[in-house]
Amino acid sequence: MESILFLLFLALSVGTVSGDTPANCTYDDVRGTWVFQIGQADNVNTNKLDCTVMPATVSTLTVKLLYPDEAVDEFGNKGFWTLIYNQGFEVVIRNRKYFAFSRYKQDGKNVTSYCDQTLNGWSHDTSDRNWACYMGKKTEALKPKYHTVLPPKVQDDKYYTTDYNMLYNINSKQSSWKAGVYPHLEKMTMDEIIKIAGGRKSRINGQPRAVRPTEKDIQNSRSYPEAFDWRDHMGQDFVSPIRNQESCGSCYAFSSMGMHEARVRVITNNTQQPVFSPQDIVDCSEYSQGCEGGFPYLIAGKYAEDFGIVLESCNPYNGKDSTVCHTKTSCSRMYATDYKYVGGYYGGCNEYAMITALVKNGPMSVSFMVYNDFLHYKSGVYHYTQLENSFNPFEITNHAVLLVGYGKVEETGEKYWIVKNSWGTTWGEDGYFRIRRGSDECAIESIAVESTPIV
Ligand SMILES: *[C@@H]1O[C@H](CO)[C@@H](O)[C@H](O)[C@H]1NC(C)=O
Ligand SMILES: *[C@@H]1O[C@H](CO)[C@@H](O)[C@H](O)[C@H]1NC(C)=O
Ligand SMILES: *[C@@H]1O[C@H](CO)[C@@H](O)[C@H](O)[C@H]1NC(C)=O
Repeated sequence: MESILFLLFLALSVGTVSGDTPANCTYDDVRGTWVFQIGQADNVNTNKLDCTVMPATVSTLTVKLLYPDEAVDEFGNKGFWTLIYNQGFEVVIRNRKYFAFSRYKQDGKNVTSYCDQTLNGWSHDTSDRNWACYMGKKTEALKPKYHTVLPPKVQDDKYYTTDYNMLYNINSKQSSWKAGVYPHLEKMTMDEIIKIAGGRKSRINGQPRAVRPTEKDIQNSRSYPEAFDWRDHMGQDFVSPIRNQESCGSCYAFSSMGMHEARVRVITNNTQQPVFSPQDIVDCSEYSQGCEGGFPYLIAGKYAEDFGIVLESCNPYNGKDSTVCHTKTSCSRMYATDYKYVGGYYGGCNEYAMITALVKNGPMSVSFMVYNDFLHYKSGVYHYTQLENSFNPFEITNHAVLLVGYGKVEETGEKYWIVKNSWGTTWGEDGYFRIRRGSDECAIESIAVESTPIV
């Protein structure tokens, strides 16, 4: 009960703050020297800590965040840091983790990002004990940044219409992949379409591109096979069944749960096949925004480490936002550890690092930009065709999915990734799609995330 109330409290307090509009803070905004004011550590030693009101400061930490991912404190101790999309950042130093969203204010359509400050954030040691609240300020003040939130909702209540001309063009002007009609899309409003494609809030401005592989990346990848598929590895299927997120922007929760489902199978040689609850994430997570979106680093990674995830039966999926956390407290939770951006930090990813992690550790969360044509993917190796009609502009979103394998088309030599979507089994290649590999197609090689379930 206590934890339900706690989670509910967080869902209400943090959810509404961070859920409305994310701040827009970039790597260069965040890099530099910060002072963290740290409040009294929680003496009950659990994660049930409310940081809505900052307790009195009991200590400070001055930390320099250096390129690309090194953190150095005032005594010269070294640690790690990463930006988390454009929303905030995490620092790990002296065996403590510090995570906070960047500060911002919203007034109607107007959003102001204060990238030199954080909202109240959470700190705990790397064994998840001694939780404390903190607040960070950069020593160098930055000018506030303004932007306005995306267009009024009016147009979004319209039903989606299929652009037949676009489909004709896709199928006649290239032969890499085939497009088709999905009647169920026309029963959805534009707003719902945007949600299934990742949601407005997950749109990333200034998304990084894949980095050039290092010699070591290339060396490592030489020992891996030409093609690999966790759905058919040593005669076994290590990937859990395809699901359907329906019209809720919960792709990040499905991608995150899907990674843990697959990795539990990998770790236990398929003797355990749990299905985890995305609804627990939608209802109860303080680190994401329910049906409005969220990010795998904070869910598959940080939420699973800090709070644990539960089985589907503990909170079955209904695809609706809730201000109440419906997860039964009697359910046991599975935790995860060692979460990271593949490549080490946000902005450090590439094809080789992904192959290495995929073959070694199992399926992982990846995100990519969804354009209008992708909705109509039926089969083949997808790439963005730029053949949509200009009168039907589709808002680009960032959609989280699960990478399960890779290969190469025999005849053309075109390299591809094999990716699990969460739009049901009737979409794409039985719920999966293939997408071009090696050229950072739609930024799919730029932000892979992995995390290890503790089984
Ligand atoms: C948003 O900013 C504009 C331009 O500064 C201003 O005219 C408008 O009143 C602001 N709206 C709100 C709701 O604050
Ligand atoms: C966010 O910041 C980046 C870099 O400063 C800028 O390019 C982008 O347009 C901003 N996005 C919004 C919505 O203001
Ligand atoms: C994993 O499971 C398969 C199928 O049950 C079995 O053939 C194989 O020996 C197992 N591997 C190990 C290392 O136990």
